[in-house]
Amino acid sequence: MSEQERIAQLRAELHRNNYNYYVLNAPAISDQDFDALLRELQELEAHHPELFDPNSPTQRVGSDLSNKFESVEHQYPMLSLANTYNREEVRQFYERVSEGLAGEPFEICCELKFDGLSISLVYEDGRLVRAVTRGDGVRGDDVTANIRTIRTIPLQLGSQAPMPAVAADGQGDLFAAPALEPVVSWPQRFEIRGEVLMPWASFEALNIEREAEEEPLFANPRNAASGTLKSKQTAIVAKRKLDAYLYYLLGEDLPAEGHYENMEAARSWGFKVSNHMCKARTLDEVFAFIDYWDVERKNLPIATDGIVLKVNSLRQQQTLGMTAKSPRWAIAYKFQAEQASTVLREVTFQVGRTGAVTPVANMDPVQLSGTIVRRATLHNADFVAQLDLHVGDHVLVEKGGEIIPKIVAVDEAFAHQPRGPKVEFINRCPECGAELVRYEGEAAWYCPNETGCPPQIKGRIEHFVSRRAMNIDTLGPETIEDFVSRGLIRNYADLYGLQVDHLSGANDSRIRSARKTIKAIEDSRQVPFERVLFAMGIRFVGESVAKTLTRNFKTIDALAQASLDDFLQINGIGTAIAESVIQWFRNSDNLRLVERLRGYGLQLQLSDDVLSQQSDRLAGRTIVISGVFAHHSRDEYKALIEQHGGKNTGSISAKTSFILAGENMGPAKLEKAQKLGVAIIHEDEFLKMIED
Ligand code: IVH
Repeated sequence: MSEQERIAQLRAELHRNNYNYYVLNAPAISDQDFDALLRELQELEAHHPELFDPNSPTQRVGSDLSNKFESVEHQYPMLSLANTYNREEVRQFYERVSEGLAGEPFEICCELKFDGLSISLVYEDGRLVRAVTRGDGVRGDDVTANIRTIRTIPLQLGSQAPMPAVAADGQGDLFAAPALEPVVSWPQRFEIRGEVLMPWASFEALNIEREAEEEPLFANPRNAASGTLKSKQTAIVAKRKLDAYLYYLLGEDLPAEGHYENMEAARSWGFKVSNHMCKARTLDEVFAFIDYWDVERKNLPIATDGIVLKVNSLRQQQTLGMTAKSPRWAIAYKFQAEQASTVLREVTFQVGRTGAVTPVANMDPVQLSGTIVRRATLHNADFVAQLDLHVGDHVLVEKGGEIIPKIVAVDEAFAHQPRGPKVEFINRCPECGAELVRYEGEAAWYCPNETGCPPQIKGRIEHFVSRRAMNIDTLGPETIEDFVSRGLIRNYADLYGLQVDHLSGANDSRIRSARKTIKAIEDSRQVPFERVLFAMGIRFVGESVAKTLTRNFKTIDALAQASLDDFLQINGIGTAIAESVIQWFRNSDNLRLVERLRGYGLQLQLSDDVLSQQSDRLAGRTIVISGVFAHHSRDEYKALIEQHGGKNTGSISAKTSFILAGENMGPAKLEKAQKLGVAIIHEDEFLKMIED
């Protein structure tokens, strides 16, 4: 078999296994085997740049080059649907349809309304050629590169065995679609629309990660999906685990006359189409579907916010036509977010590790979406003011797309009752009494007493010992709380002065675990500089920022002395991070901490190993990476550039020193480079540059 044939074979095989794994949830080979095939394909593709294919399975991992979103016009405008929240309007919709069709019988296709963002995909000859966001309905953003990383979206149709019509989780349900004969041929060109979503599990994992990185959390999966799809780096999208359901097929020669049947065909071509669709012949059947899913949707792995009802026959859809905004043949019935009314007893204020003060409502316990709710976040001072809350008010609590319940309003049904005292935001820290401050551009109030405020002290130590920081995880929050309250430790440097008997007390049975903890503290002296810097808990210095800073400054002393300008030279470091670090090192308490850590032998500079691999050979050079490489991955080249003092940027400008070009550099980039007279250096030449 020629290498060209092997590439084609590998691509087909990987597409098929991708489909089995992600769409069917039924992997046919092991992860190792999948990775081995993928690596083989990557290597062959690197030797055959002429066979580059944007739809190759190797492209699903994305890249960290900056990608641009061009605004493009939709072939068919993307209309939205008329919304309703009540059954009476559903009945009226049904009657309007019946009248519009002059009493002719009709079927309604009932579907879930997915809560994500809509996307239009265009396929030509079975290949994905374009993916566009809704935008204003007429024009949207071309996000094809990002969409290619979503594993459930087929890049090449027909790479799968026909899909059985059972739910992906293997469980049937009341409204599971019956098995149909797969329709094998797809039109030469068609458009398919659907919803890009982030499953609950991915959403929760992402927020945990963001919390550790001190990045703002996403309020719900829809915001997370939309933020992700707007990312300029496809590699980030690839990591975020988005999913997509398709629900609307458009084009000239569609396989069937019914919408439902077209979706069945699309499923057989490899698209992820919901199994929870059904055709209703009466209004009662429509209501049965609504009632069923109003409850059952809570067990789905993804967020839904209602039901979509569509007249099934395309001919009848045409007869009914459109209003200016939406089709007359469809309607969205939105679920009421579940609400409960209860009494506000007290507002308390929580101080986090960064000193941010969060108001929390304490209420009479009330049942809501299957759990008992006693507390709700009030976010910040502005939110409290907007609600105009008084102690003793009856309040409406809601659990919408968010996980944490929130108070949405004061319950008007009790408006006639006399009210208690107005809830005022505090101006002193509830824990230490310090006067609160508000930083420009931020909604939160902060307690500035970093070194004297107990929850901040405990929070910082908890962060310091956490697994991704110093990894002294035998030290739990209760022990830390205990040590802090006994005055044994006041900051993380104090940990290194602890001895076994501090931890065990007079209790013999605790000696073993105390020894283990002391050993973990000892061992943490070997933790590399970048993790120590992350552990120190400087605002905005998450894991990846810590890595960037240590690579660039190499020692804590250089970092402590860096100026704003020094920081801004670095790719990925902006003013907020720079100012936070500068502030931190201006504080004499912090400087004392650093000196003590140094005294205890912690790693406050890059190790000799790493340093010996560093040089200034690329100092002052700004380098763009483009194309496919044979010897190293793009990420490795990026690391090499930084290791040798250079700066890697995403787009070519007059400031670019040269382009590190692999095979298949994009034609637009090539043209721009030639226009600006930027040199193009190939990988072997580059490797020589940094070797000498
Ligand atoms: S059909 C002309 N079906 O809800 C009909 N939309 O305002 C086009 N959505 O923008 C839409 N689930 O983003 C359709 N099963 C479903 C849907 C769905 C979610 C979204 C879509 C649309 C909005 C309706």
